[in-house]
Amino acid sequence: MTVHEPSAVVLRAHRTDLTQPPSEVLEVVTLPPQEPDAGQVRVRNLFQQVIAASGDLMFATSQIPVPVFRVGEPISGPAIGTVVESRAGDMPVGTVVLHMSGWREESVLGRGEAFPVPDGVFPGPEYLLNQGVPAYHGIVDIAEVGEGDVVLVSGAAGGVGSMAAQIAKARGAATVIGIAGGPEKCRYLVDELGLDAAIDHRSDDLDERLTALAPGGITAFFDTIGGSQFEAALRHAAPRARFALCGTLAGQIGGGDGGHPRLDLMTAIAREVRIRPFSTRHTPEQIEAWNTHYARWYAEGRIRFARTLLEGPLQRAVAAQDELLAGAHRGNVIVRFAG
Ligand SMILES: NC(=O)c1ccc[n+]([C@@H]2O[C@H](COP(=O)([O-])OP(=O)(O)OC[C@H]3O[C@@H](n4cnc5c(N)ncnc54)[C@H](OP(=O)(O)O)[C@@H]3O)[C@@H](O)[C@H]2O)c1
Repeated sequence: MTVHEPSAVVLRAHRTDLTQPPSEVLEVVTLPPQEPDAGQVRVRNLFQQVIAASGDLMFATSQIPVPVFRVGEPISGPAIGTVVESRAGDMPVGTVVLHMSGWREESVLGRGEAFPVPDGVFPGPEYLLNQGVPAYHGIVDIAEVGEGDVVLVSGAAGGVGSMAAQIAKARGAATVIGIAGGPEKCRYLVDELGLDAAIDHRSDDLDERLTALAPGGITAFFDTIGGSQFEAALRHAAPRARFALCGTLAGQIGGGDGGHPRLDLMTAIAREVRIRPFSTRHTPEQIEAWNTHYARWYAEGRIRFARTLLEGPLQRAVAAQDELLAGAHRGNVIVRFAG
């Protein structure tokens, strides 16, 4: 009998340059099947999430506070799959689980590595493949967005930004303005995600648009981009505005204007702008806080799961990683594999 050898995406070499597409260092290979030990389950993956940070983890070193990927080994990332073999009593065959060992057809997971997906809360299990935890932490705990705020979100059509902007609305912000690349993404932000306005960073003048949209200044800023977008946000900050710095995509992606903005200290001092970078640790409390609000706001129709759904196989996820960094997709990017 031939034994099925599951495929996985392996890192062949470290990336050395931001302009180098991730696909150049990734390879889909087959691996010997892994048997679960006592307490473990074998999971056949159904969905793979593709996130920008994975591109950083392909370098030999990264400032992101998680270990970089190792050459010769499968890379990892958020995924959802079905238990097909179980040696763990609490996760019988058929359980659908969320885990962090994706980028492979099958994953063998122990206790504390696989989280059963609750039934009936969302239309499909892939709704849990979102970047709501850092979005919620940044908007709620760091920027402390609430009623009446005028909020600017950069990278608003991306995985984290699309959630952050909607969370700001759900928290009662008076105005939420998103920055995104291209008219289609801008239309999506306003017409489908319910933002008040969108600015196209490719064709609009940021200063002109911010003057028109936020004449009294922005009171909160959620930044995933850095660079010139951070600088523009500071020029338009209201007194005592709160800035939550989440990401520096302008510096993480080749061809961007660099993630290192110049900080106009006098403006920051005079307006007492509170600038707080943050790194989400995904603590059980942070995950619980987001999941509780996500389920409630989704049921109330106040939040949408912004995503791009692509069809597998694994090689499609590799291409999607390149495309994500090139700005080709919107929302949370998910690859679905045939069952
Ligand atoms: N601090 C934390 O705890 C934390 C946690 C998770 C993620 N992050 C960070 O959050 C950021 C967003 O992550 P994500 O996975 O949601 O990525 P994402 O926003 O989905 O990333 C892709 C988007 O980046 C935009 N982009 C690409 N190049 C750009 C450039 N040069 N200038 C401006 N925008 C550019 C594109 O949007 P447009 O086409 O609209 O320009 C593209 O669609 C990343 O920096 C990530 O590392 C931080």
